[in-house]
Amino acid sequence: MTRLVHLSGELVAEQDAKISIFDSAIMLADTVTESTRTFHHTPFKLDEHIERLYLSLKLTRIDPQMSPAEMKRITLETFEANLHTYEAHEDCWIVHNISRGLSIAGADPTKQVGAPTVMIFTQPMNLKPWAKFYKQGCHGVTPMSRMVPSQSLDPRIKNRSRLPYTLAEMEAKLVDPEAQSVILDLDGHVAENKGGNIFAVSKGVLRTPTTVNCLAGISRAAALELAQQLGIPTQETVLQPYDLATADEMFFTSTPYCIMPSTKFNGHAVGDGQVGPVTKRLLAAWSELVGLDIVAQAEAQIN
Ligand SMILES: Cc1ncc(COP(=O)(O)O)c(C=O)c1O
Repeated sequence: MTRLVHLSGELVAEQDAKISIFDSAIMLADTVTESTRTFHHTPFKLDEHIERLYLSLKLTRIDPQMSPAEMKRITLETFEANLHTYEAHEDCWIVHNISRGLSIAGADPTKQVGAPTVMIFTQPMNLKPWAKFYKQGCHGVTPMSRMVPSQSLDPRIKNRSRLPYTLAEMEAKLVDPEAQSVILDLDGHVAENKGGNIFAVSKGVLRTPTTVNCLAGISRAAALELAQQLGIPTQETVLQPYDLATADEMFFTSTPYCIMPSTKFNGHAVGDGQVGPVTKRLLAAWSELVGLDIVAQAEAQIN
């Protein structure tokens, strides 16, 4: 079944969605992005994703030439046009990529020369890369590459200039194919994963880096909110690799997998090397919130 994508004002078949090689997405990678997921075919926190998208657009000075309400309308239109391609048990991504449009070599970047390129697509939620980690936990590894400093590119701007994250993730996976990157900033503080935020539980307190050096993840905020509802104390603070190596529990958060437990950090067992009770409570609370067993849904894709 052919999926349809939104391309700058039109719904077109996925295979016919073509953009110019002169688009700034390709010429400059100055593209902002969002990835939202559904639970039971209902987009999760779409308003929050669109709000963050508009903050990224503002900071990159890309004019989307439409209001957030219109963006939401065309997002839902795209999603609904594809709903029949998803089976009842299947969820999907809804991805926004918005570039400044055509890029003329040598042009003044403060002047957007035409319409932005607005790309919105949906794809089946492939949870296979993370499914086994809910039970066994993944291995957090610090790559050689450090975060692009916030002073150069604020990580809160969710953008598609992904080379630094891609290299960092490759470096971690060359150490261990089961690894997920734990990228440090230039001061050696824990920042984030190539596509997720990082948490540690120590003496019952759930701790995560402040957004000085990482994306203000929507799953990060959801995990903090759930913890507060469960009476688990939370702290947004500076974390060193030491804090992860000595933590009782560790996990990552991101839109597709919500919470991914980590039971090893740079070769050290985290706590007793098993997925811990706070991580399990948060996963259960998240499943309850969305009315779907998050772990079972992912595991069904590999069993
Ligand atoms: C660099 C980076 N950090 C963190 C996240 C997690 O953000 P969210 O929870 O909003 O998916 C992402 C998501 O893609 C990301 O790309």
